[in-house]
Amino acid sequence: MENNQDSFEKVIPTAWMVAYRRTFSDIPYSIEIFEALEEIKKKNNYEDIPAELKKPQLAPQFEARHKLLDKLIYQTNAEQILELAAGFSSRGLSMSKDYKFNYVELDLAPVTKEKQQIIQEIAKEKWFEVPESLHFVSGNAMDFESFEKGLSYFDKTKPLVITNEGLLRYLTKDEKAKVAQNIHKVLEEFNGVWVTSDISLRKIFSKENEVMKDHVEKISKLTGKDIFSNRFETEEEAKDFFENLGFSIERHSFMEVYDDLTSPKTLHLSEQQVKDVVEDAVVYVMKPTTK
Ligand SMILES: C[S@@+](CC[C@H](N)C(=O)[O-])C[C@H]1O[C@@H](n2cnc3c(N)ncnc32)[C@H](O)[C@@H]1O
Repeated sequence: MENNQDSFEKVIPTAWMVAYRRTFSDIPYSIEIFEALEEIKKKNNYEDIPAELKKPQLAPQFEARHKLLDKLIYQTNAEQILELAAGFSSRGLSMSKDYKFNYVELDLAPVTKEKQQIIQEIAKEKWFEVPESLHFVSGNAMDFESFEKGLSYFDKTKPLVITNEGLLRYLTKDEKAKVAQNIHKVLEEFNGVWVTSDISLRKIFSKENEVMKDHVEKISKLTGKDIFSNRFETEEEAKDFFENLGFSIERHSFMEVYDDLTSPKTLHLSEQQVKDVVEDAVVYVMKPTTK
């Protein structure tokens, strides 16, 4: 597999897919962001996402992931957030606008460019100013220099949350370790935690494939990333991986936000259909053990 900037850029279309699935939920600005994204796609004649991947089935998983991360971030009481691979998520806009959090979104340059444009359009349409505390940084989560650009917006005397959803499954074990080491280095300086849903477990991928035939293989083909090889066989393997990199782990199940999900109703899904895509997934809240 390639290991350069272009190879990461092949992951960008997955951000569209997540943005699409969030439109079936009540997550603020999801519809506005997706509509603006569609306009950009049309205007620039971007290649369409393969029809077989334009499906809403996994929406409750993405809604739960978003809502659980929100909940755990709020629980830390931190008001400085660095989101890696933020894609077309609305979290940065919501948290900077409604709570005045100092929020940095880091993603690859083509994404941050479009994201900024989208946020400006939404702000104009809805008659509000783009929050001054929302910042966009073009970079690569593998490079510490990209982190440094983001950190320049933060106050070292205050707590920091680093978060990401939907990034690590595209990275090899060595690449995941590199991102984790970058985060560890930052959290040794700042008082804070890493909140991530990216615990890529074999059983989650198997469930995704049951719900959408060959989903993981199709995403692997689209992105050029060997998602199955990047996975953890068991949760023990995942825990060992992060603990060996110097983190302590607090584990949360996606089921903690089951009652908050709205997409199952929109999509007329049964309780079992929702549990199938939600109950095996977890978020880890991690802290450096060496602090
Ligand atoms: C599945 S999307 C998730 C986006 C967003 N977190 C969400 O949940 O909507 C994956 C994102 O990872 C970003 N990405 C891929 N490789 C990256 C890297 N090395 N550094 C930073 N971002 C990366 C892509 O540009 C894309 O926005």
